[in-house]
Amino acid sequence: MDNVTVLTHPLIKHKITMLRDVRTGTNEFRALIEEIATLMGYEALRDLPLVDIEVTTPIETCLSPVISGRKLAIVPILRAGLGMVQGILNLTPTAKVGHIGLYRDPETHEPHEYYCKLPDPIDERTIVVVDPMLATGGSAVAAVDFIKQHGGKKIKFMCIIAAPVGLERLHEAHPDVQIYVGNLDRELNENAYICPGLGDAGDRIFGTK
Ligand code: PRP
Ligand code: URA
Repeated sequence: MDNVTVLTHPLIKHKITMLRDVRTGTNEFRALIEEIATLMGYEALRDLPLVDIEVTTPIETCLSPVISGRKLAIVPILRAGLGMVQGILNLTPTAKVGHIGLYRDPETHEPHEYYCKLPDPIDERTIVVVDPMLATGGSAVAAVDFIKQHGGKKIKFMCIIAAPVGLERLHEAHPDVQIYVGNLDRELNENAYICPGLGDAGDRIFGTK
């Protein structure tokens, strides 16, 4: 699939295994989510444009590259996406942060929106939507629909674990969105949970049940 990158870095794979473990407690789970987001962000931001500026070293003056004017926005899908925000801010501390609140109906698994606040204007920014889980794809598609309705154009989506069906659905609905996946898992179960997955990401990050 064009525009889909499944990451292969051993550090990402190792940390995902720690995340999956049912014995991993809230503290460690949160730290791992942040660390994985940083590692994935490094890969997803590989194409940020550079511009040369003049810099004076202790030896001489030279031209050297910095990230150019194009601004970044990180948009977590609440709640679980919040866990990934600091991981990307570690790389790009000046990024703005928007929020989209969506929850899955436990019966229908359809996403319901309850909150949205995006940096304004959004159209000039590279937007990185983050959510640890891409299951049916309903939440991710709804979030990207919403960002596009508000003028967002250059959108990336980053998830730690995806199910094949959700990945296909997001890619089909938004083929222009670059998708970064930490691991592609086997399938969804009858409750639309990812198998083997890691359970409910929001509950494990926030210690709720
Ligand atoms: C989870 C997860 C995604 C969504 C994925 O959130 O964080 O947003 O489910 O499922 P989908 O691909 O089938 O839409 P949830 O709705 O459980 O809300 P929470 O983060 O507040 O727990
Ligand atoms: N949301 C989660 O948190 N986990 C899943 O496996 C599917 C959706």
